[in-house]
Amino acid sequence: MCGIMGYSGLQPPVPLLVSGLERLEYRGYDSSGVAFFDDFGLISVVRAVGKVSVLKEEVKDLAGHPGAAIGHIRWATHGGVKLENAHPHQSGPIVLVHNGIIENEQVLRIRLKGEGILFQSETDSEVLSHLVRLEYEKDRNFPEAVRRALGHVEGSYALAILCQNDPADLVVARNGPPLILGLGEGETFAASDIPAFLHFTRQVFSMENSTIALIRHDEVRVGSLDQTVESWKTPVSRTISWDPVFAEKGAYRHFMEKEIFESPRAMMDTLADRVSFGNILPEIARKAHEKPPAVAFVACGTSWHAALLGRSFLEQAGIPAFVEIASEFRYRRLLLPPGSWVIGISQSGETADTLGALEASKRAGFFTLGISNVPGSSLEREADLCLLTHAGPEIGVASTKAFQAQVALLMMLALALSPAPPREDLLESLIRSPHRLELFLESVPPESLDGRVERLRLSSLVMFAGRGLDYPLALEGALKFKEITYRPADGYPGGELKHGPIALIEPGVTVVAPMVDRSLRAKEISNLREIRARGGYVMAIGPLIGKDGHEIWYDDRIELPDDPPWSGIYQAAGILQLLAYRVASALGNDVDQPRNLAKSVTVE
Ligand code: AGP
Repeated sequence: MCGIMGYSGLQPPVPLLVSGLERLEYRGYDSSGVAFFDDFGLISVVRAVGKVSVLKEEVKDLAGHPGAAIGHIRWATHGGVKLENAHPHQSGPIVLVHNGIIENEQVLRIRLKGEGILFQSETDSEVLSHLVRLEYEKDRNFPEAVRRALGHVEGSYALAILCQNDPADLVVARNGPPLILGLGEGETFAASDIPAFLHFTRQVFSMENSTIALIRHDEVRVGSLDQTVESWKTPVSRTISWDPVFAEKGAYRHFMEKEIFESPRAMMDTLADRVSFGNILPEIARKAHEKPPAVAFVACGTSWHAALLGRSFLEQAGIPAFVEIASEFRYRRLLLPPGSWVIGISQSGETADTLGALEASKRAGFFTLGISNVPGSSLEREADLCLLTHAGPEIGVASTKAFQAQVALLMMLALALSPAPPREDLLESLIRSPHRLELFLESVPPESLDGRVERLRLSSLVMFAGRGLDYPLALEGALKFKEITYRPADGYPGGELKHGPIALIEPGVTVVAPMVDRSLRAKEISNLREIRARGGYVMAIGPLIGKDGHEIWYDDRIELPDDPPWSGIYQAAGILQLLAYRVASALGNDVDQPRNLAKSVTVE
C-alpha cells in the first residue's frame, strides 16, 4: 500500500532514496517524502503531494550528508491526500516513515493528547512518532525507545526511523507489511520491496514479523521485539538472482507493456529445471505422493483467476479442487475434508487477505502451499511449503507476466500430483508454451490492434465471456480492462449471459470472447449468436475462428495459432493484456500506477 525506504552508508543519501522511491512507486503514489542529515548534522525533512517526480524536483539540488536517511511513498489510508499527512512524520528528535495500519490509533491518540501532544496530521503514523519520542526522552536510548514504544501498538507496520542525536543509526521494525534489508558493501538498505535497492546489492535479508533492527552503515543487528538490543544478532543474508535490468523500463513506454513481452521468459524461468519426464516439480516431490483428497485455492484478483485455471488442471488430474476468494474464506468455517491442502497464490506474497486465509488454514490443521513471485515474501515464509514463480520483479500494478508464470506453475503442479503418469502431450505442450507465446506475441503487428483498440475505446460497454478454460480468461480480461482504463467491464461464464447479463446487450456494446477451450466451442458460439442477434458486437479470440463450418457468428476475430488449449491459454491472456494496455494508453491513463490501486494490498 505504501512504500518505505531506509539507508545507512557513505553515499549522499537523497539521490538514492529518490531513485529507490521511484522503483517503489507502484505501491502508492499520493505523496512522498525524505528525511536526511544535512552537513550541519541536523535532520532535514522534505515532503511533497503527488508522484515522486514532484519530490524529485524539490530535492534536485540536495545530496544530504552520508549517514542514515529515510524515504516514503504514500497510498492514503488514514487521512486524506494532503501535505500534512505525507511522511516522514517528526516528533522532537524522532523522524519516521511507516507502512501499515495502527489498529489502536484512536486510543493512543487520545492518551497522547492527554499528555499534551499536539497533532499535525490525521495519520496513525504520526501517533507512532510521538510514542517513540516519549520513550526516547526516558533514557535517550534510540533502539530501545522504538522497541518499548511498539509494545503499546496493535496493528501492522513496516517502519524506518531516524533520531537527531544518532546520525549514523537507522532503526527499522516489521510486523505485517514487508521489510527487506539490502546488505551492501559498507552500506545497508531497508525497503518495502527489493527493486528499491537492487542496483546496489543482491544480498537480501527479509525481516520477520515482530522483529526490529539497528542499522549502521557497516553493522546490522536484528532481534525480536521482546529482546533488548544487546542480544540482537547479525543477520544472514541470501543472494537473489534478479537482474537489475528487470527493474527498468528499457525501450518500453510502460512497465506493463515490457512485462507482457517478458512473459515467455517468466514462464521459461519458472519451468526451468522443474519439468522433465521423470521428475516434475521436484520441490513438491516429498508431498506429491500424498495425493490430497481435495485442494482449496485461496487468492485475490488476478491470482484468483490463475487459481480458477489451476482448478481445471487439477480436476483433469482427478483431484477435487475449490477456488475461494481469500477475504471471504478466511472468516468462514473451514469444512474441507481432512488432509486437504490449502494453496495460497500471491504474486507479491504480501496480500493480507491471502496471508490471513492461509494462516486460518494452518490453525485449522491443513497443509498450506504457497505460490509466490517474491523470494523472501511473507507467503514464502509462512506457508508450510512455497513454490516460487520466477517472473522477476513485476512493477506494473496490473499483473501480466506473473499471471502467466502462475498458470505455468499450476500446470506443473497438476502434472506432479496426477496419480496417472503425466500425459506426454500435455507435458510437451507445457514445455513449448513459452516459445509458442513468444512467437505469437511477436507475430502481432501493433497496428493490427489499432481498430480493435478504437472499437473497445468507443464501446458503450465492454463485456468478456467464456466457457471452461475461457471463463477465467474472460474474468482476467475484464479485470485488466477495468483496472487500467477505469471503464466498467465484467467477465461472465458464457452460459450465464442469458440469465441476466444479456439484458445489457444493445448496439454499441462489445463482447470479447476468448475461445481456446474447443470442447465447448459450439455452445459458446450459440451464446455469441444470441449477443449478435441483439445488436452486440462480438470480438472472438482463438484458433480456427470461422473455420468450423458455421456461418459467421462474430464481428471480429483475433486468430491464435492452432496450438493445444494449454498453450492457447497464454496466447489469449497475452492478447487480453495487450488490448487493455493499448486502450488505457489511448485514454492517456497512468498504466503502471492506475488510480486508487496499489501493487500489493497489505491491508484488509
Ligand atoms: C491484478 O492486475 C491486480 N493488480 C490485483 O487484482 C492483484 O492481482 C491482487 O491484488 C492480488 O495480488 P497478489 O497476487 O500480489 O496477491
